[in-house]
Amino acid sequence: MIDLKRVRQLVEARLPGYSLPQEFYTDPEVFEFDLEAIHARSWFFVGLEAELPFPGSYLATTIGVLPSWWIAMIAENCERFTTARRHRGAQICDTGYGRKSRLVCPYHQWTYRLDGSLQGAGRMQESFDRRSIHLLPIHVEAVAGTIYVCLAEEPPPFGEFKEKLEPMMAPGRLTDVKLAHETTLVERANWKLVMENANECYHCAVGHASLTSSAYPFATRRDIDSWRPIANEFAGRMAAAGVATGQAPGEPLDAIGGEWWRAHRFPLKQGCVSLTMDGKPSVGKLFSEPEIGWFRWSLNSHAYLHALCDYVVTFSAMPTAAQETIVTWKMYVHKDAQEGVDYTDEGLTTLWAKTNQEDKDLSEINQRGVNGKGYRPGPYSQEAESMLIRYVDWYCAEARKYLDLAAANKAAAA
Ligand code: FES
Ligand SMILES: [Fe+2]
Repeated sequence: MIDLKRVRQLVEARLPGYSLPQEFYTDPEVFEFDLEAIHARSWFFVGLEAELPFPGSYLATTIGVLPSWWIAMIAENCERFTTARRHRGAQICDTGYGRKSRLVCPYHQWTYRLDGSLQGAGRMQESFDRRSIHLLPIHVEAVAGTIYVCLAEEPPPFGEFKEKLEPMMAPGRLTDVKLAHETTLVERANWKLVMENANECYHCAVGHASLTSSAYPFATRRDIDSWRPIANEFAGRMAAAGVATGQAPGEPLDAIGGEWWRAHRFPLKQGCVSLTMDGKPSVGKLFSEPEIGWFRWSLNSHAYLHALCDYVVTFSAMPTAAQETIVTWKMYVHKDAQEGVDYTDEGLTTLWAKTNQEDKDLSEINQRGVNGKGYRPGPYSQEAESMLIRYVDWYCAEARKYLDLAAANKAAAA
């Protein structure tokens, strides 16, 4: 049982504009609270429709660590999705991909049709009502070839995200992809440290030398001043070409976003058309004209996603313990691109393998420092860590929302 009174005291003790108190990164009770307050109630990116190509295709994943949160998704043209929690709750299908004509639980072989209804359950008594047992639906949404799920009974509003993202994603042609690479990293850091690191590029100029050979480094104020005309010129060029950036020319050059997401299309360094070691495409078959910059979108709960003219790379951070997070990063290429002909695994992945390893190392040194007795919350840079400030404010607002709701429910039940 989570001591919500204690969690509220911790949330109230937090200083705005400062990193969070130690317990938010180390304490098993706060970790359990996060699973309930954030992970059971947020939208999650789970993959691309291209990974579910046939009736009966599935993509099974885990959100958080509780077995009941295991989900399987069965698609018939991406229409049907189910969670699995019936009989004694065993996991019906391993995480990963595949195709099935029906689902058979490996424990006692209860068998389900692809619409979630129970087909068979051996040795059950006469009074057993088969029709009362079925796999439970979850909320699923698709946007321009990308898939999102939410385990909450009442998910946060999705409409604005879909409406804003659809035109921004359209040039990326995310329906024309295939999975080309997948790596899993076990990071010894709290999920918030992993996501906080993803939400600032203060560390990029020194921490990601390879990434900043094609991405703007923003190392100094002079970099930021020289970026503005480049970004303005880019926004004007995109508007003329009918490519949505999220902003009208002349508007502030910031990501657009709602409560739980951000999105931005912006230019790479001059002369670069992709995020690669040399700024050139790493895949011969492109999704689009090469001059449409870098489209990046993120979900506060767990994900940073990037679409370039030649590949899509997705980064998903799932918490497994107070100080452990499983990061899965995947790369997708054009569905007609052939390995060895249009790209090589090394050419495609070198930059992101380095960058994700660098971020893992940074999150882990952050965790080790936070674990020390001498840790005290420190002040953020208003300018260089503005995205991070927004991120931590979001976390605290979500925590408060959950605490208020729990208090209201308790009062109503009294
Ligand atoms: S737990 Fe699945 S059939 Fe028994
Ligand atoms: Fe980084």
